[in-house]
Amino acid sequence: MAVKTAKPVRKKAIETRGIRLTINGRVYEMEVGSEANQVGPSHTLAHTLRETLGLIGTKVSCDHGACGCCTVLMDEKAVLSCMTLTIECDGKKITTIEGLSDTRAEKLDPLQQAFIDYTAFQCGFCTPGIIMSAKALLNENPSPTEEEVKEGLSGNFCRCISHYHVVKAVMAASEKVR
Ligand code: FES
Ligand code: FES
Repeated sequence: MAVKTAKPVRKKAIETRGIRLTINGRVYEMEVGSEANQVGPSHTLAHTLRETLGLIGTKVSCDHGACGCCTVLMDEKAVLSCMTLTIECDGKKITTIEGLSDTRAEKLDPLQQAFIDYTAFQCGFCTPGIIMSAKALLNENPSPTEEEVKEGLSGNFCRCISHYHVVKAVMAASEKVR
């Protein structure tokens, strides 16, 4: 009796999907998957920034879209990085607080300088998120009124109640960047 030889089973190529993000001017190419060195499909941008890339300037507080601490810029618009999946950022340009200053010229962004000049923080935990929201606001509206600043930052909470100084700092920075 002839022995049937089983046809060799062709291994299906495992599809790996890659994403490409530009973060603070640097291009990152990452594989999506469940291995330790890959971006998980459920990883948030906040997780990838902090845990994978070590960009811990972005803070996570509530982790569900309520406080604004994790705000970063995506294509110049403010987004909550705890509510954004990293895989959604494929092809996007991300700016975090680490990317605001001009490191070559060793110069802080006018907003960062104004926050120092006006002591617009206490513990500082909310500050990176507030500065990134303010940056998005000034990108869109370089000459905001006080009311527009308050409205633009209404999604950012500060437990230390630094809001009055924050508004002054943003108004001062807006005068410099006009
Ligand atoms: S940590 Fe993202 S909104 Fe609070
Ligand atoms: S400065 Fe402490 S939470 Fe805002």
